[in-house]
Amino acid sequence: MEIRVELTKNPKPKPDSDSLGFGRYFSDHMFIMDYSVDKGWHDPRIVPYGPIPYEPSIMVFHYGQSVFEGLKAYRTDSGQVVLFRPEENMKRLNASCDRLCIPLIDEEFALEALKKLINIDIDWVPSGKGTSLYIRPFVIATDPFLGVRPSYTYQFIIITGPVGAYYKEGLNPVRIYVEPNYVRAVIGGLGESKASANYAASLKAQEAAKEKGYTQVLWLDGIEKKYVEEVGTMNVFFVIGDEVVTPALNGSILPGITRKSCIELLRHWGFKVSERKISIEEVYQANEKGLLREAFGTGTAAVISPIGELYWNDEKIVLSGGRIGELSQKLYDNLTGIQYAKIPDPFNWVVKV
Ligand code: COI
Repeated sequence: MEIRVELTKNPKPKPDSDSLGFGRYFSDHMFIMDYSVDKGWHDPRIVPYGPIPYEPSIMVFHYGQSVFEGLKAYRTDSGQVVLFRPEENMKRLNASCDRLCIPLIDEEFALEALKKLINIDIDWVPSGKGTSLYIRPFVIATDPFLGVRPSYTYQFIIITGPVGAYYKEGLNPVRIYVEPNYVRAVIGGLGESKASANYAASLKAQEAAKEKGYTQVLWLDGIEKKYVEEVGTMNVFFVIGDEVVTPALNGSILPGITRKSCIELLRHWGFKVSERKISIEEVYQANEKGLLREAFGTGTAAVISPIGELYWNDEKIVLSGGRIGELSQKLYDNLTGIQYAKIPDPFNWVVKV
């Protein structure tokens, strides 16, 4: 399929590289492709970024039939722009589409479209330390219809924008509240999909945690509220003695690409990594025995986010003396080192745009 291109006549000024924050600025162009039952995915186009008129009746507004992805483009020291494992995002996008009854998208074509969009907005890829171009592909149901069924029409859209750190803490440890009441997902639900609805479900607990002075919540399983699932918008790892533990992908946990990359890096370095069930009680007991060496979250937006404090059951524990753990730092240095092409990429994770 030919991608039609309409360039903006009003390019926007670019924000300062040191005041980007996360998710506030958007590049000049966006990619859009439509789906209908008779035509399949069609009319791929890159057009100026801007409002899209929709009827208030379109299904995504009412029933949340929507999935998304998050990945980044990095500017290397030589000025080249690269992506990190983008094919994994496209694969997961389709897994999410499948779960939400959204027609699948040709992954190779989506990647080609993404690269074309980034090349058009290449000047939007920032070069400041720790900055990148965040890429948000998403799909929405666009039938103007109020009955509950899968939509017959969709739009696949990719927007991008320059970002800095996701958390104001950057690589400094975050304080985490273990959520005792609300749950993010249950097995059989949407938890392992990157469905917009999962993020809507997380807001109430997230706000309550914030009010108590915590950055994020740690989610426990939806049935027994006993086993660790994820933390905020990230997967979670604990270093207990000489074992690195992360909850196994049980169906309600998002299969993070940063999670997968950390596991692969850690195993490559010879660490023992266990993907298994881990209860919050075990985490606290390990801490009591002096075995809990550190904990951290992993995600595209946040990269590696060390956990400095956990609060559960009226009990607060401080990890790694509230400082960045050794392994968190090593993973951060190596992951970002590979992403910004500062160090060799033994797994061929990095892709030129
Ligand atoms: C990401 O890490 O890219 C995510 O998609 C999380 C997000 C909701 C900011």
